[in-house]
Amino acid sequence: MSSHILSLPRIFLRSPFVTQKGLVIVAALAPLLAGAALAPLQLKSVSVELPESTRTFTGPGAEVVNNNCLACHSAGMVLQQPPLSKAVWGKIVHKMIATFKAPVAPEDVAPIVDYLAKGRH
Ligand code: HEC
Repeated sequence: MSSHILSLPRIFLRSPFVTQKGLVIVAALAPLLAGAALAPLQLKSVSVELPESTRTFTGPGAEVVNNNCLACHSAGMVLQQPPLSKAVWGKIVHKMIATFKAPVAPEDVAPIVDYLAKGRH
């Protein structure tokens, strides 16, 4: 089975129709619109490759970042930042906690900052 790379609008990628594994269930409604008598409703599965890197953090140490930083925005919001020092990442993580009420356990802050300061993943 070949997989197709579809260029989908961002909003669609976040929709409940796209599962974690990137499986999109498409109901072929065309026959219905063309006339109910023409053909029965067909369901088909389409496999798509989603831009994984903008959905989760990867590599060593990514788990704690995935667990703490994806509740409110995509990983892209974080990954699109320029390379930043540990001090600056520390400020950003504390801003998430203090300003936006991100529920980050105190012991998770250092590993998150370490991971982010290592650059692109
Ligand atoms: C409770 C919700 C929440 C959580 C959890 C959260 N953030 Fe945010 N984050 C926000 C909001 C709100 C913004 C601002 C979005 C905007 O400006 O449109 C933001 C923006 C950002 C930005 C963009 C730059 C900036 O300073 O505004 C970065 C980088 C970022 N978050 C990193 C993180 C990291 C790293 C974590 C994990 C420790 C995290 N966020 C967890 C709510 C959250």
